[in-house]
Amino acid sequence: GKADPLNVMIAGAPASGKGTQCELIKAKYGLVHISAGDLLRAEIATGTDNGKQAKEFMEKGQLVPDEIVVNMVKGRLLQPDAQEKGWLLDGYPRSYSQAMALETLGIRPDIFILLDVPDELLVERVVGRRLDPETGKIYHLKYSPPENEEIASRLTQRFDDTEEKVKLRLQTHYQNIESLVSIYEDVIVKVNGNTTVEGVFGEIEKLLTSSLDKKTEMVTKH
Ligand code: AP5
Repeated sequence: GKADPLNVMIAGAPASGKGTQCELIKAKYGLVHISAGDLLRAEIATGTDNGKQAKEFMEKGQLVPDEIVVNMVKGRLLQPDAQEKGWLLDGYPRSYSQAMALETLGIRPDIFILLDVPDELLVERVVGRRLDPETGKIYHLKYSPPENEEIASRLTQRFDDTEEKVKLRLQTHYQNIESLVSIYEDVIVKVNGNTTVEGVFGEIEKLLTSSLDKKTEMVTKH
């Protein structure tokens, strides 16, 4: 039989590099990338009621209530593409109750990657971040500058990417991360996020490839 696809969760402080690594993981392993933050920003852009409510919490750097987030992510996760190709959950679950909602459905990752970056570096990463609205690509003015003038001129900034707001987001992160660490203790791996983008991806590649090998081995033995 065919091995089950890989299911991955990735967590870390704001601007620790989750989105950047997810672009690379998606390209190499073909997993379906599901970012809670991106789904919420899409709701805001469409102007839905959920989006309007969510924005109030995001502006304060707080978690958006479960009533909005849990079904939104669950709906995406249960779509056929994510089930067939495997999923990459980015920024979800972010609290004990969100993790429990998945546990109740029997949904667990093969591996839970926790990106580790010292707090002092996060502010600089946040204030220098820019996004290309056309491709969704993540840039940094200093560390990943745009390839040309045309891209540079259309880059945008997120409404919550200020020094003041990243501090609030960081507090929220530390209030919740310990409960996740205990739930996913058996599959959690800390990855040093304080090297180059390629360096971090190199570590992640080793982990994912070995997870995938284990799954394939299990299938061929049975
Ligand atoms: P979300 O969008 O998930 O934001 P976040 O967790 O704060 O993470 P970021 O997207 O800011 O950073 P990232 O780790 O993806 O870093 P990136 O790769 O861009 O959530 C936003 C809000 O939505 C939350 O505050 C909350 O309100 C709400 N929300 C989201 N999920 C929720 C949930 N589950 N429940 C309830 N509410 C929820 O990198 C950052 C910058 O650094 C970039 O410029 C990048 O180019 C640069 N960079 C990346 N890697 C490196 C490197 N190795 N070296 C140098 N620079 C690098």
